[in-house]
Amino acid sequence: MRVAVFSSKPYDQESLTRANAAFRHELHFFEAALNLQTCSLAENAEAVCVFVHDQIDAHLLCCLAGRGVKVVALRCAGFNNVDLPAAREVGIDVVRVPAYSPYAVAEHAVAMMLTLNRHTHRAYNRVREGNFALNGLLGFDMNGKTVGIVGTGRIGTVLARIMIGFGCTVLAYDLYPNDECKALGVRYVPLDELLPQSDIISLHCPLSEETRHLIDSKAIGKMKRGAMLINTGRGALIDTSAVIAALKSGHIGALGLDVYEQEENLFFEDHSEEIIQDDVLERLMTFPNVLVTAHQGFFTREAIDAIAKITLNNLKQVEAAEPCPNQL
Ligand code: NAI
Repeated sequence: MRVAVFSSKPYDQESLTRANAAFRHELHFFEAALNLQTCSLAENAEAVCVFVHDQIDAHLLCCLAGRGVKVVALRCAGFNNVDLPAAREVGIDVVRVPAYSPYAVAEHAVAMMLTLNRHTHRAYNRVREGNFALNGLLGFDMNGKTVGIVGTGRIGTVLARIMIGFGCTVLAYDLYPNDECKALGVRYVPLDELLPQSDIISLHCPLSEETRHLIDSKAIGKMKRGAMLINTGRGALIDTSAVIAALKSGHIGALGLDVYEQEENLFFEDHSEEIIQDDVLERLMTFPNVLVTAHQGFFTREAIDAIAKITLNNLKQVEAAEPCPNQL
Protein backbone atom coordinates (compact mmCIF):
# COMPACT_ATOMS: atom_id res chain seq x y z
CA MET A 1 0.00 0.00 0.00
CA ARG A 2 1.22 3.52 -0.75
CA VAL A 3 1.36 5.33 2.59
CA ALA A 4 2.08 8.99 3.38
CA VAL A 5 3.60 9.04 6.88
CA PHE A 6 3.11 12.41 8.63
CA SER A 7 4.67 13.84 11.82
CA SER A 8 7.46 11.34 11.30
CA LYS A 9 10.66 11.97 13.24
CA PRO A 10 13.91 10.20 12.36
CA TYR A 11 13.20 7.54 15.01
CA ASP A 12 9.76 6.83 13.44
CA GLN A 13 11.30 6.61 9.99
CA GLU A 14 13.92 4.16 11.26
CA SER A 15 11.50 1.86 13.09
CA LEU A 16 8.92 1.87 10.28
CA THR A 17 11.56 1.25 7.60
CA ARG A 18 12.99 -1.63 9.64
CA ALA A 19 9.59 -3.22 10.23
CA ASN A 20 8.55 -2.66 6.62
CA ALA A 21 11.06 -5.26 5.39
CA ALA A 22 8.37 -7.82 6.25
CA PHE A 23 5.45 -5.86 4.73
CA ARG A 24 6.79 -4.02 1.68
CA HIS A 25 4.40 -1.08 1.81
CA GLU A 26 5.48 2.00 -0.15
CA LEU A 27 6.25 4.49 2.63
CA HIS A 28 6.70 8.23 2.00
CA PHE A 29 7.89 10.11 5.09
CA PHE A 30 7.06 13.72 5.94
CA GLU A 31 8.17 15.54 9.09
CA ALA A 32 5.20 17.90 8.73
CA ALA A 33 1.99 17.33 10.66
CA LEU A 34 -1.05 16.40 8.59
CA ASN A 35 -3.39 19.36 8.12
CA LEU A 36 -5.22 21.20 5.34
CA GLN A 37 -1.97 22.83 4.20
CA THR A 38 -0.01 19.58 4.00
CA CYS A 39 -2.68 17.11 2.85
CA SER A 40 -1.61 17.59 -0.78
CA LEU A 41 1.48 15.55 0.19
CA ALA A 42 -0.88 12.56 0.41
CA GLU A 43 -1.52 12.77 -3.34
CA ASN A 44 -1.75 9.23 -4.78
CA ALA A 45 -1.48 7.66 -1.31
CA GLU A 46 -4.08 5.11 -0.26
CA ALA A 47 -3.30 5.64 3.42
CA VAL A 48 -2.05 8.37 5.72
CA CYS A 49 -0.19 7.43 8.88
CA VAL A 50 -0.35 9.97 11.75
CA PHE A 51 0.47 10.52 15.42
CA VAL A 52 -1.19 11.94 18.57
CA HIS A 53 -1.11 15.66 17.70
CA ASP A 54 -2.42 15.42 14.12
CA GLN A 55 -5.99 16.75 14.24
CA ILE A 56 -8.04 14.67 11.81
CA ASP A 57 -11.29 16.65 11.64
CA ALA A 58 -14.24 16.42 9.23
CA HIS A 59 -12.89 19.01 6.80
CA LEU A 60 -9.49 17.30 6.55
CA LEU A 61 -11.15 13.89 6.12
CA CYS A 62 -13.18 15.26 3.19
CA CYS A 63 -10.00 16.54 1.55
CA LEU A 64 -8.25 13.21 2.11
CA ALA A 65 -11.18 11.24 0.67
CA GLY A 66 -11.20 13.60 -2.33
CA ARG A 67 -7.55 12.70 -2.94
CA GLY A 68 -8.31 8.97 -2.85
CA VAL A 69 -7.11 8.21 0.69
CA LYS A 70 -8.90 5.15 2.08
CA VAL A 71 -7.23 4.63 5.47
CA VAL A 72 -6.01 6.71 8.41
CA ALA A 73 -3.49 4.69 10.42
CA LEU A 74 -2.84 6.07 13.90
CA ARG A 75 0.55 5.24 15.39
CA CYS A 76 -0.93 5.55 18.87
CA ALA A 77 -3.62 4.15 21.15
CA GLY A 78 -5.71 7.29 21.72
CA PHE A 79 -8.10 8.39 18.97
CA ASN A 80 -9.65 11.53 20.49
CA ASN A 81 -7.94 13.49 17.66
CA VAL A 82 -10.00 11.80 14.90
CA ASP A 83 -13.60 12.61 13.97
CA LEU A 84 -14.74 8.98 13.62
CA PRO A 85 -18.35 9.65 12.44
CA ALA A 86 -16.96 11.97 9.73
CA ALA A 87 -14.46 9.26 8.69
CA ARG A 88 -17.30 6.77 8.35
CA GLU A 89 -19.32 9.23 6.32
CA VAL A 90 -16.55 9.71 3.74
CA GLY A 91 -15.69 5.98 3.72
CA ILE A 92 -12.23 6.22 5.34
CA ASP A 93 -11.18 3.36 7.65
CA VAL A 94 -9.34 4.28 10.85
CA VAL A 95 -6.94 1.88 12.55
CA ARG A 96 -4.82 2.36 15.68
CA VAL A 97 -2.31 0.64 17.97
CA PRO A 98 -4.28 -0.11 21.13
CA ALA A 99 -1.33 -1.57 23.05
CA TYR A 100 2.41 -1.69 22.43
CA SER A 101 4.34 -1.68 25.69
CA PRO A 102 2.61 -1.01 29.00
CA TYR A 103 6.07 -1.42 30.58
CA ALA A 104 7.39 1.69 28.81
CA VAL A 105 4.84 4.04 30.39
CA ALA A 106 4.66 2.32 33.80
CA GLU A 107 8.46 2.36 34.10
CA HIS A 108 8.53 6.04 33.13
CA ALA A 109 6.04 6.78 35.92
CA VAL A 110 8.41 5.00 38.33
CA ALA A 111 11.37 6.99 36.97
CA MET A 112 9.45 10.21 37.74
CA MET A 113 8.57 9.04 41.26
CA LEU A 114 12.15 8.13 42.10
CA THR A 115 13.58 11.32 40.58
CA LEU A 116 11.20 13.51 42.57
CA ASN A 117 11.62 11.50 45.75
CA ARG A 118 15.44 11.35 45.73
CA HIS A 119 15.93 14.70 43.91
CA THR A 120 18.28 13.16 41.35
CA HIS A 121 17.36 15.96 38.89
CA ARG A 122 18.89 18.45 41.33
CA ALA A 123 21.75 16.24 42.52
CA TYR A 124 22.90 15.79 38.91
CA ASN A 125 23.43 19.54 38.47
CA ARG A 126 24.82 20.12 41.95
CA VAL A 127 27.58 17.53 41.69
CA ARG A 128 28.61 18.78 38.25
CA GLU A 129 29.08 22.22 39.77
CA GLY A 130 31.22 20.88 42.60
CA ASN A 131 28.44 21.15 45.19
CA PHE A 132 28.45 17.94 47.20
CA ALA A 133 26.13 19.13 49.98
CA LEU A 134 23.06 17.03 50.78
CA ASN A 135 20.83 19.80 52.15
CA GLY A 136 17.46 19.74 50.39
CA LEU A 137 17.99 16.27 48.90
CA LEU A 138 16.29 14.30 51.68
CA GLY A 139 13.99 11.60 50.30
CA PHE A 140 11.87 8.82 51.74
CA ASP A 141 11.84 5.01 51.58
CA MET A 142 9.36 3.83 48.96
CA ASN A 143 9.02 0.67 51.02
CA GLY A 144 5.95 0.88 53.24
CA LYS A 145 4.39 3.87 51.45
CA THR A 146 0.90 3.83 49.97
CA VAL A 147 0.58 4.30 46.21
CA GLY A 148 -2.84 5.11 44.71
CA ILE A 149 -3.31 4.08 41.09
CA VAL A 150 -6.20 5.59 39.16
CA GLY A 151 -6.98 3.28 36.23
CA THR A 152 -5.70 -0.28 36.43
CA GLY A 153 -5.75 -1.25 32.77
CA ARG A 154 -2.65 -2.45 30.97
CA ILE A 155 -0.31 0.28 32.28
CA GLY A 156 -1.82 0.65 35.75
CA THR A 157 -1.54 -3.11 36.31
CA VAL A 158 2.17 -3.16 35.39
CA LEU A 159 2.72 -0.21 37.74
CA ALA A 160 0.89 -2.02 40.55
CA ARG A 161 3.20 -5.01 40.10
CA ILE A 162 6.32 -2.80 40.26
CA MET A 163 5.09 -0.87 43.30
CA ILE A 164 4.30 -4.08 45.15
CA GLY A 165 7.87 -5.17 44.35
CA PHE A 166 9.06 -1.98 46.08
CA GLY A 167 7.17 -3.00 49.23
CA CYS A 168 4.41 -0.42 48.80
CA THR A 169 0.76 -0.82 49.71
CA VAL A 170 -1.22 -0.33 46.51
CA LEU A 171 -4.71 1.16 46.44
CA ALA A 172 -6.59 1.49 43.17
CA TYR A 173 -9.63 3.16 41.74
CA ASP A 174 -11.15 1.87 38.50
CA LEU A 175 -14.67 1.53 37.13
CA TYR A 176 -13.79 -2.08 36.28
CA PRO A 177 -11.50 -3.65 38.93
CA ASN A 178 -9.41 -6.45 37.44
CA ASP A 179 -8.66 -9.86 38.91
CA GLU A 180 -4.93 -9.70 38.14
CA CYS A 181 -4.57 -6.66 40.40
CA LYS A 182 -6.70 -8.20 43.11
CA ALA A 183 -4.52 -11.33 43.02
CA LEU A 184 -1.43 -9.10 43.42
CA GLY A 185 -2.92 -7.70 46.62
CA VAL A 186 -4.15 -4.37 45.23
CA ARG A 187 -7.08 -3.01 47.24
CA TYR A 188 -9.80 -1.28 45.21
CA VAL A 189 -11.36 1.71 46.96
CA PRO A 190 -13.51 4.66 45.87
CA LEU A 191 -11.52 7.69 44.66
CA ASP A 192 -12.54 9.61 47.79
CA GLU A 193 -10.72 7.00 49.89
CA LEU A 194 -7.70 6.67 47.62
CA LEU A 195 -6.96 10.41 47.65
CA PRO A 196 -6.51 10.94 51.42
CA GLN A 197 -4.66 7.63 51.99
CA SER A 198 -2.04 7.76 49.24
CA ASP A 199 1.50 9.13 49.58
CA ILE A 200 1.87 8.90 45.80
CA ILE A 201 -0.98 9.10 43.27
CA SER A 202 -0.42 8.01 39.66
CA LEU A 203 -2.98 8.53 36.88
CA HIS A 204 -3.51 5.82 34.24
CA CYS A 205 -7.12 6.19 33.08
CA PRO A 206 -8.05 7.51 29.63
CA LEU A 207 -9.18 11.09 29.08
CA SER A 208 -12.94 11.32 28.64
CA GLU A 209 -15.62 13.84 29.55
CA GLU A 210 -15.90 11.92 32.82
CA THR A 211 -12.20 12.10 33.69
CA ARG A 212 -11.43 15.64 32.45
CA HIS A 213 -10.03 17.55 35.45
CA LEU A 214 -10.47 14.48 37.65
CA ILE A 215 -7.80 16.10 39.79
CA ASP A 216 -9.25 19.55 40.45
CA SER A 217 -9.10 21.76 43.54
CA LYS A 218 -11.77 19.66 45.27
CA ALA A 219 -9.88 16.40 44.70
CA ILE A 220 -6.59 18.04 45.71
CA GLY A 221 -8.25 19.18 48.94
CA LYS A 222 -8.88 15.51 49.76
CA MET A 223 -5.26 14.49 49.11
CA LYS A 224 -2.76 13.96 51.91
CA ARG A 225 -0.72 17.12 52.51
CA GLY A 226 2.64 16.74 50.79
CA ALA A 227 1.55 13.86 48.52
CA MET A 228 3.26 13.28 45.17
CA LEU A 229 1.15 13.38 42.00
CA ILE A 230 2.27 11.69 38.77
CA ASN A 231 0.46 12.07 35.45
CA THR A 232 1.54 10.00 32.46
CA GLY A 233 -2.08 9.63 31.23
CA ARG A 234 -3.36 12.74 29.45
CA GLY A 235 -2.77 16.36 30.41
CA ALA A 236 -6.40 17.31 30.93
CA LEU A 237 -6.87 14.68 33.67
CA ILE A 238 -5.45 17.46 35.84
CA ASP A 239 -6.63 21.05 36.31
CA THR A 240 -3.17 22.57 35.97
CA SER A 241 -4.06 25.90 37.61
CA ALA A 242 -5.43 24.11 40.68
CA VAL A 243 -2.26 22.02 40.87
CA ILE A 244 -0.09 25.16 40.70
CA ALA A 245 -2.05 26.68 43.60
CA ALA A 246 -1.54 23.47 45.59
CA LEU A 247 2.20 23.44 44.83
CA LYS A 248 2.43 27.03 46.08
CA SER A 249 0.65 26.18 49.32
CA GLY A 250 2.68 22.98 49.78
CA HIS A 251 -0.43 20.79 49.69
CA ILE A 252 1.07 18.90 46.76
CA GLY A 253 4.61 17.89 47.71
CA ALA A 254 5.88 16.92 44.26
CA LEU A 255 4.51 16.77 40.73
CA GLY A 256 5.63 14.65 37.78
CA LEU A 257 4.03 15.37 34.40
CA ASP A 258 4.72 13.51 31.17
CA VAL A 259 1.62 15.03 29.63
CA TYR A 260 0.26 18.56 29.78
CA GLU A 261 -3.11 20.06 28.88
CA GLN A 262 -1.64 22.46 26.29
CA GLU A 263 1.19 20.22 25.07
CA GLU A 264 0.04 20.11 21.46
CA ASN A 265 1.96 23.15 20.21
CA LEU A 266 5.12 22.43 22.19
CA PHE A 267 5.87 18.77 22.77
CA PHE A 268 7.91 16.70 20.30
CA GLU A 269 9.58 19.86 18.88
CA ASP A 270 12.69 21.88 19.77
CA HIS A 271 11.60 25.35 20.94
CA SER A 272 14.86 26.13 22.74
CA GLU A 273 15.61 29.17 20.55
CA GLU A 274 12.17 30.73 21.13
CA ILE A 275 10.39 32.58 23.92
CA ILE A 276 7.84 30.10 25.25
CA GLN A 277 4.49 31.87 25.46
CA ASP A 278 2.78 29.35 27.75
CA ASP A 279 2.91 31.04 31.18
CA VAL A 280 1.31 28.08 32.98
CA LEU A 281 3.96 25.65 31.80
CA GLU A 282 6.70 28.20 32.50
CA ARG A 283 5.36 28.67 36.06
CA LEU A 284 5.47 24.89 36.54
CA MET A 285 9.13 24.87 35.50
CA THR A 286 10.03 27.25 38.34
CA PHE A 287 9.17 24.74 41.09
CA PRO A 288 12.11 22.64 42.27
CA ASN A 289 9.68 19.81 43.10
CA VAL A 290 8.16 19.60 39.61
CA LEU A 291 9.45 17.36 36.85
CA VAL A 292 8.06 17.74 33.32
CA THR A 293 8.93 15.40 30.46
CA ALA A 294 7.58 15.89 26.95
CA HIS A 295 5.25 12.89 26.47
CA GLN A 296 8.09 10.39 26.36
CA GLY A 297 6.48 7.65 28.45
CA PHE A 298 5.96 5.48 25.37
CA PHE A 299 9.46 6.12 24.04
CA THR A 300 11.38 2.87 24.38
CA ARG A 301 12.96 0.83 21.61
CA GLU A 302 10.55 -2.04 22.29
CA ALA A 303 7.50 0.23 22.16
CA ILE A 304 8.37 2.06 18.94
CA ASP A 305 9.25 -1.23 17.22
CA ALA A 306 5.90 -2.66 18.31
CA ILE A 307 4.07 0.50 17.12
CA ALA A 308 5.74 0.20 13.70
CA LYS A 309 4.97 -3.50 13.32
CA ILE A 310 1.33 -3.23 14.43
CA THR A 311 0.71 -0.14 12.26
CA LEU A 312 2.07 -1.85 9.13
CA ASN A 313 0.12 -5.01 9.90
CA ASN A 314 -3.08 -2.97 10.34
CA LEU A 315 -2.51 -1.52 6.86
CA LYS A 316 -1.86 -4.97 5.42
CA GLN A 317 -5.12 -6.32 6.85
CA VAL A 318 -7.16 -3.39 5.59
CA GLU A 319 -5.55 -3.66 2.14
CA ALA A 320 -6.35 -7.39 1.96
CA ALA A 321 -9.91 -6.69 3.22
CA GLU A 322 -9.18 -9.05 6.13
CA PRO A 323 -10.80 -8.42 9.52
CA CYS A 324 -8.59 -5.94 11.43
CA PRO A 325 -9.09 -6.06 15.21
CA ASN A 326 -7.49 -2.62 15.55
CA GLN A 327 -10.01 -0.91 13.29
CA LEU A 328 -12.17 1.69 15.05
P1 NAI B 1 -6.34 0.66 29.29
O1 NAI B 1 -7.52 0.93 28.45
O2 NAI B 1 -5.71 -0.68 29.30
O3 NAI B 1 -6.70 1.03 30.83
C1 NAI B 1 -7.43 2.15 31.22
C2 NAI B 1 -8.13 1.83 32.53
O4 NAI B 1 -8.78 3.00 32.99
C3 NAI B 1 -9.20 0.73 32.40
O5 NAI B 1 -9.01 -0.26 33.39
C4 NAI B 1 -10.50 1.48 32.60
O6 NAI B 1 -11.51 0.68 33.22
C5 NAI B 1 -10.06 2.61 33.49
N1 NAI B 1 -10.99 3.75 33.46
C6 NAI B 1 -11.70 4.23 32.41
N2 NAI B 1 -12.44 5.28 32.81
C7 NAI B 1 -12.20 5.45 34.13
C8 NAI B 1 -12.69 6.36 35.10
N3 NAI B 1 -13.61 7.28 34.79
N4 NAI B 1 -12.22 6.26 36.36
C9 NAI B 1 -11.31 5.30 36.69
N5 NAI B 1 -10.82 4.40 35.81
C10 NAI B 1 -11.27 4.48 34.55
O7 NAI B 1 -5.29 1.80 28.91
P2 NAI B 1 -3.71 1.76 29.11
O8 NAI B 1 -3.07 1.11 27.92
O9 NAI B 1 -3.39 1.27 30.47
O10 NAI B 1 -3.39 3.33 29.01
C11 NAI B 1 -3.88 4.25 29.99
C12 NAI B 1 -3.69 5.67 29.48
O11 NAI B 1 -2.30 5.97 29.42
C13 NAI B 1 -4.18 5.89 28.03
O12 NAI B 1 -5.56 6.19 28.00
C14 NAI B 1 -3.35 7.06 27.58
O13 NAI B 1 -4.06 8.25 27.86
C15 NAI B 1 -2.11 7.00 28.46
N6 NAI B 1 -0.90 6.71 27.68
C16 NAI B 1 0.17 7.55 27.82
C17 NAI B 1 1.33 7.33 27.12
C18 NAI B 1 2.52 8.21 27.31
O14 NAI B 1 3.46 8.14 26.48
N7 NAI B 1 2.60 9.01 28.33
C19 NAI B 1 1.43 6.22 26.16
C20 NAI B 1 0.28 5.34 26.14
C21 NAI B 1 -0.85 5.60 26.88
